[in-house]
Amino acid sequence: MEIKERIAFLTKELNQHNHNYYVLNKSVISDYDFDMLLKELQELEVKHPEYAFPNSPTKRVGGDITKNFETVAHRFPMLSLSNSYSKEEIQEFDERIQKLIGGEIEYVCELKYDGVAISITYENGELVRALTRGDGIEGEDVTANVRTIRAIPLKLQGDYPESFDMRGEIVFPLAAFNQLNQEREAAGEPIFANPRNTASGTIKMQDSSIVASRGLDCQLYQLYADVNPFEGHFEAVNSVKDWGFKTPSLADNYIKKVNSIEGIMEFINYWDEKRSELPFEIDGIVIKVNNHHKQQELGFTSKSPRWAIAYKFKAERVSTVLNEITYQVGRTGAITPVANLEPVQLAGTTVKRANLHNADQIEKLDIREKDTVYVEKGGEIIPKIIEVDFSKRPKESEPTVYIKHCPECGSELVRVEGEAQHYCPNSSNCKPQITGKIEHFIGRKMMNIDGLGVETVVQLFEAGLIKNSADLYDLTFEQIEPLERMAEKSVNNLLKGLEDSKKVPFEKVLFALGIRYVGETVAKKLAKYFRNIDALIAASEEELVAVDEIGGRIAESVKSFFEDEMNVSIVNRLKTAGLQFELDETEHQQQSAALEGKSIVVSGVFEMSRNDLKKLIESHGGKNASSISSKTDYLVRGDKMGPSKLAKAEKLGITMLSEQEFLALLG
Ligand code: IVH
Repeated sequence: MEIKERIAFLTKELNQHNHNYYVLNKSVISDYDFDMLLKELQELEVKHPEYAFPNSPTKRVGGDITKNFETVAHRFPMLSLSNSYSKEEIQEFDERIQKLIGGEIEYVCELKYDGVAISITYENGELVRALTRGDGIEGEDVTANVRTIRAIPLKLQGDYPESFDMRGEIVFPLAAFNQLNQEREAAGEPIFANPRNTASGTIKMQDSSIVASRGLDCQLYQLYADVNPFEGHFEAVNSVKDWGFKTPSLADNYIKKVNSIEGIMEFINYWDEKRSELPFEIDGIVIKVNNHHKQQELGFTSKSPRWAIAYKFKAERVSTVLNEITYQVGRTGAITPVANLEPVQLAGTTVKRANLHNADQIEKLDIREKDTVYVEKGGEIIPKIIEVDFSKRPKESEPTVYIKHCPECGSELVRVEGEAQHYCPNSSNCKPQITGKIEHFIGRKMMNIDGLGVETVVQLFEAGLIKNSADLYDLTFEQIEPLERMAEKSVNNLLKGLEDSKKVPFEKVLFALGIRYVGETVAKKLAKYFRNIDALIAASEEELVAVDEIGGRIAESVKSFFEDEMNVSIVNRLKTAGLQFELDETEHQQQSAALEGKSIVVSGVFEMSRNDLKKLIESHGGKNASSISSKTDYLVRGDKMGPSKLAKAEKLGITMLSEQEFLALLG
């Protein structure tokens, strides 16, 4: 097969597998086989970028860096829906429609997805643009990020119109959201408050590879075309499935056609009760007149269509008594105030505690012990205290005085200017900070030490055997065996777990150290860039911020971590114990040989630093050359490139790649 044909074949094949997996939920190929095909395509595209399709599945892995999003006018304005909060208003909506057009009215009931609205333009079966809502007239072009969402087809099949828009909602599935928050907690970063805002923040990120890693999903709910080939909305939504779209599931009752107000109410009641079982959040139900002609007849007000209405669920709230405010100390020393509530049933779970976040929040709510408070769970995972019922406040009530000393070790708390959180500064002697740090260190995604759990850490600490992670590697059989619940086998397991952890790669060891703001992804970036711990320790803040995606906040945190002699001495002891503090170069080299033997010239100004770009070339087996010659294989071309260089490259017929093209091809 010719290379060009092979690229076309692989592109089509992989797009079909993606569709099977992400839209139809049935896969006919193993992950391994899929990865092999993808790799083959990536390599062919690097060698022959001229044959690569703009909608290649290799773009799904992200890598396009767009600094500011361009604003682009919507082809069809993105209107909003009029909202209603009561069933009477829905009744009135139906009466209004009857009066305006009369006759038999079919309605389509749908979920109101709580995410970010998106409008996606397809031309000749290819995804060409994705815009956020913006002001409804113009939106931001977030195409590179939207391409990474697997539920959105890049290339269509079947009999589609030449040009049309699909509208939908990008949602953060709850499972992926919870996982992201767990990872953030592990990195000592503040957790995200809710899936909607996080989806909205994610879709506007500069680095699409991060977007790709977050697992966003999309529900496409409406087709917009100059000439809509379908009689009604319901038919349209169900038919576009054949073109490759993931539209709301009929089988799961996400969408239903009804022909009476009773049918509408039944749908509303069903989802009011069942919405907590959905894998994503919704905030209501949308009711639309089905027939497209009738929609046209009804038309629009200045803000919204007359043929549709949203019924918004009331967030479930209950009142209960706040028994006590307690304070937790995290591994970084951060203090979190917690409301201990009189247990109460809410949205199917018993709520006993709620996060009060920080001193400012307590002051804002003016919340006090023994107050009656309203707790809300708008389908969200974490219950929230919304307000205090002041009418029920006991007479003898006194304002809450935020603690001044650590509830665990008594140290005076500090609050850094501009930060919301109070901290206990006694990092080397405060019990929950010590055990918290060690628990983080042994975590599954860090050192993954088998045979050592949270309880054992506390036990070892209380027995005076460990005060930091380095102490773990000095433990002996004789020291551990006398402890309660320890048998020969469990001691041996623990010691073996510690021994095995010495093979854990550098990036995980770096994550395990528990440097504030250094989570899994940042640790990987730092490890790859600096290659060993000594280079990282020696790095200045300027050098740190030169690394892609590392900002001032992380740089400062890394710097101050290694300025603490205690931390450096722990690192040195861990090094002596035999842990990995260098990048495994052999593994790293093998990651890709996509540019093996290629001579590449980098010229001009880029989004990423030129140094990073050169390192990237080396890590994929390529050679950086300084000037263009007949031996040059590629020219990676940035802004403001000199005209003479450009002319020379053109004359020699050298393949030129933009930064985006280059990165996307490397995946
Ligand atoms: S139809 C002109 N259907 O709700 C009507 N919108 O205020 C266009 N939304 O931000 C909207 N689920 O993104 C429609 N099933 C659904 C929806 C839905 C969520 C969002 C939409 C927009 C807002 C409308």
